[in-house]
Amino acid sequence: MPVDRWEDKDDLAGKDFTREAKAFFPKTLRFLRRLPLVGIGRASILGLAPFHHGTVHRDADPDAEPAEFIMLVPTADKQLFVWDDAAACAHPAPKTHALWFHDGDYHGVAAAPYFRYSVRVDGPFNDEFRQKIGIQEPLR
Ligand SMILES: [Fe+2]
Repeated sequence: MPVDRWEDKDDLAGKDFTREAKAFFPKTLRFLRRLPLVGIGRASILGLAPFHHGTVHRDADPDAEPAEFIMLVPTADKQLFVWDDAAACAHPAPKTHALWFHDGDYHGVAAAPYFRYSVRVDGPFNDEFRQKIGIQEPLR
């Protein structure tokens, strides 16, 4: 589910998965539609070739409220990290199947000798999920 502008990733109006996604990933789309989100504003598969790393970057203004999204790592083998500029070190995320972080913080992915992928699904968290993770109100 592509968007023209990064800022539109949380906008739910009039969006649908691409024809290709519906044709090749029907089970994945059924799973994504069951995530604890009000709706899906953007979904993309992020792959890394063997020995490649994800360059340290920020996706958003660090002072903005964190974007609401779920990063799925089906094989739990993609080592995401948040870069701590003050301490000049990386804080590895737990190797897990699903995570969320403030994408306004510097972050990247460590290299590994095998292909890795994740699925980033952007959309506002639903109220039940928001309560489970301790967020009282929508962040944006
Ligand atoms: Fe990013």
